[in-house]
Amino acid sequence: MGKILIIGAAGQIGTELTLELRKINGNDKVIATDLTTASEEVMSSGKFEILDVLDKQNLSRIVTENDVREIYHLAALLSGNSEKKPKRAWEVNMDGLLNVLELAKDLKLSKIFWPSSIAVFGNTTPKVNTPQITIMEPNTVYGISKLAGERWCEYYHAKFGVDVRSLRYPGLISHKTEPGGGTTDYAVEIFYEAVKHKRYKCFLSKDTMLPMMFMPDAIDGTIKLMEAPADGISTHCGYNITAISFTPEQLSNEIVRYVPEFEIEYEADFRLEIAKTWPATIDDSTARRDWGWKHKFNLSEMTEVMFRKISEKFQV
Ligand code: NAD
Ligand code: SER
Repeated sequence: MGKILIIGAAGQIGTELTLELRKINGNDKVIATDLTTASEEVMSSGKFEILDVLDKQNLSRIVTENDVREIYHLAALLSGNSEKKPKRAWEVNMDGLLNVLELAKDLKLSKIFWPSSIAVFGNTTPKVNTPQITIMEPNTVYGISKLAGERWCEYYHAKFGVDVRSLRYPGLISHKTEPGGGTTDYAVEIFYEAVKHKRYKCFLSKDTMLPMMFMPDAIDGTIKLMEAPADGISTHCGYNITAISFTPEQLSNEIVRYVPEFEIEYEADFRLEIAKTWPATIDDSTARRDWGWKHKFNLSEMTEVMFRKISEKFQV
C-alpha cells in the first residue's frame, strides 16, 4: 500500500484528519505537511515535513520519495482571511490545487481529497434547503476560489481520469485546533470565551443562521467518501453535506445551560456581509444516497462535548 499525504496538516481539520488516518492506516503510512509545525500529537505520531503547496518541486519530491498514492489537500486561506488578502488567497487556493491535480495526473495517483465549502453559494442561491445543483454566484474571494476549484476538479476527472473527491463542508466546530480565519469561527470562539470569561462579543448578528457540523462527523464523512467505490460517486465537484443549522442566539441559549451567567453581545463586522450570502440550510440528499453520508451529533450533543473538552483544556 502506498502512503497518504496531508497538506495543511497543522490546521483545524488537518490536525484531526491526520490523527484519524494514522489510527486507521498506521502511523508510518500518513505523512503530515504544512507551512508551519503542527500540534505535538501530529508531530510526534508520525512523519512531518514543512511544505509550501506552491513549491511544486518540493511537493513532487515528497510524493515520489515517500511513495505517496493518496493526497488530502487542505491548505487554503479561509473566508475572512481571503477578503483581507485576495491575491494571496487566489494564489494559495488555486495554484495550490492545480499543483496537486497536475501531480495526480502525471504520477497517476490513486485518489485526491480537496474540500470545497458552502461559500460556493451566493446571494442568488436559494437559502433554504440549498440543492446540490443550483445557482452559484459566490460574492467572496474565497467562494470564487472554491467554485473555480470545483470546476477544475470536475475537469481533471473528466479529461484525465483523476479520482478527485470533494465535500462542501459547512462551518466546522472543534476543540483540538482553533480555526484559521473563517466566518463560521464564532461558533468555536464562543466556547473558549464562555469557559474563560463567561461572555462573548459575536461578529455576526443574533439571527444569522448557518449550516454547521461537529468535527467528528466531518472526519467520518471525509473518510467514508474516500472509501466509497468509484462507480457510486456521481459528482467530482463537491457534495453538499450538512448536520445542524443554528443562529448565534440559539447556540448561546445552549451555552447558558452550562454557564448560567453567560452573556453575549453582538457587534457585527465584515464577516456578517459574507455570512449573509451563504445558505441557512442545505439539502445533502445526494451524499446520503450515493455513499451513505449520515451525521451523528445534534446541537446539544455537540455543545456537551465542546464544553467538557475546552473546560478540561483550561482546567476549569
Ligand atoms: P486552517 O486555516 O485551520 O488550516 C489550513 C492550513 O493550511 C494551515 O495550517 C496553514 O498553515 C496551511 N497553509 C496555508 N497556506 C499554505 C501553503 N501555501 N502551503 C501549505 N500549507 C499552507 O483551515 P481548515 O479549517 O483546516 O480548512 C482546511 C480546508 O477545508 C480548507 O480548504 C478550507 O477552505 C476547507 N473548509 C474548512 C471549513 C471549516 O469550517 N474549517 C469549512 C469549509 C471548508
Ligand atoms: N468555515 C469556512 C469559513 O468560514 C467556510 O468555508 O471560511
